[in-house]
Amino acid sequence: MNGYLNPGPTTTSDSVKYAQVCADICPRETEFGEVMEWISVELSCMAGKRGGIETVLFGGSGTAADEVMLSSCIPDTGKLLIVDNGAYGARFTKIASVYKLNFDVFKSSGFTPLDIEAIKAKLLESAYTHFAIVYHETTTGLLNPAPELCRFCHDHGITTIVDAVSAFAAIPIDMDRDGFDFMASTSNKNIQGMAGVAFVFCRKEALEPLASYPMRNYYLNLWDQYQHFKKTRQTRFTPPVQSLYALRQAIIETKCETIEKRYKRYSSCWERLVKAVRKLGLTMLVPEEAQSKLITAIIDPASPKYSFEDLHELARRHGFTIYPGKLAQANTFRIANIGDIQPDEMTAFTQVLEIYMRTL
Ligand SMILES: Cc1ncc(COP(=O)(O)O)c(C=O)c1O
Repeated sequence: MNGYLNPGPTTTSDSVKYAQVCADICPRETEFGEVMEWISVELSCMAGKRGGIETVLFGGSGTAADEVMLSSCIPDTGKLLIVDNGAYGARFTKIASVYKLNFDVFKSSGFTPLDIEAIKAKLLESAYTHFAIVYHETTTGLLNPAPELCRFCHDHGITTIVDAVSAFAAIPIDMDRDGFDFMASTSNKNIQGMAGVAFVFCRKEALEPLASYPMRNYYLNLWDQYQHFKKTRQTRFTPPVQSLYALRQAIIETKCETIEKRYKRYSSCWERLVKAVRKLGLTMLVPEEAQSKLITAIIDPASPKYSFEDLHELARRHGFTIYPGKLAQANTFRIANIGDIQPDEMTAFTQVLEIYMRTL
């Protein structure tokens, strides 16, 4: 029974874990360069047409990939609009201010769908050259309409930067169709690998102009890392070797399952959870039609006896780990259904939730 209901690092199969155990190898040898090149090409194929996308690998977490994009993809003359409707949109704004970028923020509630027309109007109001949005706000499980907004940006010559950290490899993405120029994700979310590899997907046409952009940092510079890898099949600095071996295995398993079927599996887990939530009289924070089906924020039960710690403890005793909420404005707890989990495991969790609710 796999009871890890957290949004990441997600659970992985045993074969992904075991892939890390291998003979010592100098990552500077050709064989390891080939492993990284294979990973980069296979990831690219999951995000768009073969040959149209370059995926640049870094040692780091999802935030590193976000920071790579914001620090590397905007020229000094650029003006950025950031959508902030959750913790990760807020993180974008924090990174943009650290780099002193010229940017505005479109702020919106973390649990109601974005006002698409208001964002479009805002985009036309000023001379924005770049637009940044989080596809799936893991804070609440809200799925933002990133494709519609990014396609609109493309029609108006605006470059798009998308945090797909918790969307990629579950929600089917085609960067050309969806209008994404740059997109971030990581090895430890829906691709079901181990933590340690951050990746930035780039549409080839969007990548080339970066050659002339200022280098605002060293380690996280996208153009330098890309150029170096193209020439040498090596990352500039020590790669996270074991995480890359695990990622190779995770990619093989993702290709066997397919992203479409993975999303179906995740959705079936979510449907079982939602059914139980309704039966138990609980309320979800985000309207069902705007949810990602990957993580669910549930409003704390009204009973004065309710305690997240007690629920967490009971769940732990039955082999499940659950997550607290991440919003200041609403008291919630969160149940994620990503990673190597099956619908029956979610059903078993809902039985534990039912036991707890009876104690209230
Ligand atoms: C949407 C999103 N962006 C960025 C991050 C940051 O990733 P990390 O914690 O790996 O730096 C997360 C982490 O959960 C996330 O869900």
